[in-house]
Amino acid sequence: MKTTVRFAASVLIAGVSVAVVATQAAPKAKYTTEEVMKALHKGKDSIGKHVMDGNGTKEEIKKLLEYYPSMLLNDPEKGDKAEWKKRVTALLAATKALDKGAPGALDQYKEAVNCKACHSAHKPDKEHK
Ligand code: HEC
Repeated sequence: MKTTVRFAASVLIAGVSVAVVATQAAPKAKYTTEEVMKALHKGKDSIGKHVMDGNGTKEEIKKLLEYYPSMLLNDPEKGDKAEWKKRVTALLAATKALDKGAPGALDQYKEAVNCKACHSAHKPDKEHK
């Protein structure tokens, strides 16, 4: 009887640690890609636009750095996963370079934030057509 209880307890503990490890292995994105787009890119007066025009403030760049990492954790609904990771990694690297004021960072950002290239590869065209 005692052994059964002890066994049950250790199974329970094992289960809990497996759950903890699983959570750590797959961190959850804070924002969906749609939320990232709405917060940073949507509209004529977006943060992304300011930054691309060379008028991004420190706060705006910090906001990019707050949202872009979620895209790295989200899988694309469409297109190749490795390709997606590559694009988002480049975008994040360019934004970090901007934050540091690295030379050439603005050109790097403009290239990485290419709306059309990423959308044609990864944006599901559910609302249109
Ligand atoms: C690295 C990839 C990537 C880049 C770069 C990118 N987008 Fe997106 N964008 C996406 C994906 C993926 C979606 C679809 C999100 C969804 O609905 O799940 C999207 C959706 C959107 C939407 C629709 C959001 C909504 O209201 O549902 C807008 C607007 C948008 N992007 C604007 C832009 C603009 C403007 C740029 C360039 C300045 C840009 N995006 C650059 C990947 C990207």
